[in-house]
Amino acid sequence: MQSKITKCVFPVAGLGTRFLPVTKELAKEMLPLVNRPIISYGVEEALASGCHEIIMITGRAKRSIENYFDRSFELEELLKSRGKTELYEMMLKISNMAEILFIRQREPLGLGHAVLCAEPVCGNDFFGVALPDDVFINEHDPVLAQLIKVHDKMGGSIIALEEIEPENVSRYGIVKSQFEIHDESFDSGIHKIIDMVEKPDLDNAPSNLAIMGRYILSPSIFPILREQQAGAGGEIQLTDAIKTLCAQEPVWGLVYKGRRFDCGTQKGWLAANVQLALEDPDLRDVILNIVK
Ligand code: G1P
Repeated sequence: MQSKITKCVFPVAGLGTRFLPVTKELAKEMLPLVNRPIISYGVEEALASGCHEIIMITGRAKRSIENYFDRSFELEELLKSRGKTELYEMMLKISNMAEILFIRQREPLGLGHAVLCAEPVCGNDFFGVALPDDVFINEHDPVLAQLIKVHDKMGGSIIALEEIEPENVSRYGIVKSQFEIHDESFDSGIHKIIDMVEKPDLDNAPSNLAIMGRYILSPSIFPILREQQAGAGGEIQLTDAIKTLCAQEPVWGLVYKGRRFDCGTQKGWLAANVQLALEDPDLRDVILNIVK
């Protein structure tokens, strides 16, 4: 069955304060993860999951993302004239990778506000959301595809979940689930979500099930987001809006299968680079020679 979910929203307007000073001038989504910018991994995952309409919610300082996915005629001509065919073809492949629509988020009002900026394009359709800081590397189905599979079976909105150590709850949105459904089509249970809280203290966390950066959302989220007041960190939080959605429509959570790299912090990004380099036969020795 062909899923009806073809759109994926990437909020990329964030100022990247966790990476300062480097992000004073550089978009954090353009930092390299081994051989490609972080944003490329998320876009590749969305495309592999059947979402061929990519919507980036971008900001003033993020032109480099637009340029990365655009043609660069000067560079292409130079590579062609010098007989560097492989590199030339690599450049073409990147610019032909996806149709991308860019929408400006004019003020940094938070993730919920960024998603609201996609309303004119998403209209009445269910759509995916991918936070590019969370990079998933998978031998299994892409995580977004895992969520789409749950949506196709159960309907409603779907959230990717991970069981985390209790001491980390204050870094994530944390959910409360009412019950779990076990279905043979899925490796893990599907949680019926009834509540969620953004970055709670350990004492107020309803569980240790954390929201990871992949969602399938109902268009009913938009009217909720329009009314949403600022929450944690003084920002309009997507988590708060999904909490309201839970009371109106089914919201399911799936503990995804796969490996996640948190590229939203300097340490996480560095660890991801080292780990992936160790798994690359051409780069493995570079790391091993340093640590021996
Ligand atoms: C965002 C969401 C949070 C989620 C996290 C996953 O937080 O607000 O609910 O758990 O992504 O990475 P951020 O990391 O942008 O602060």
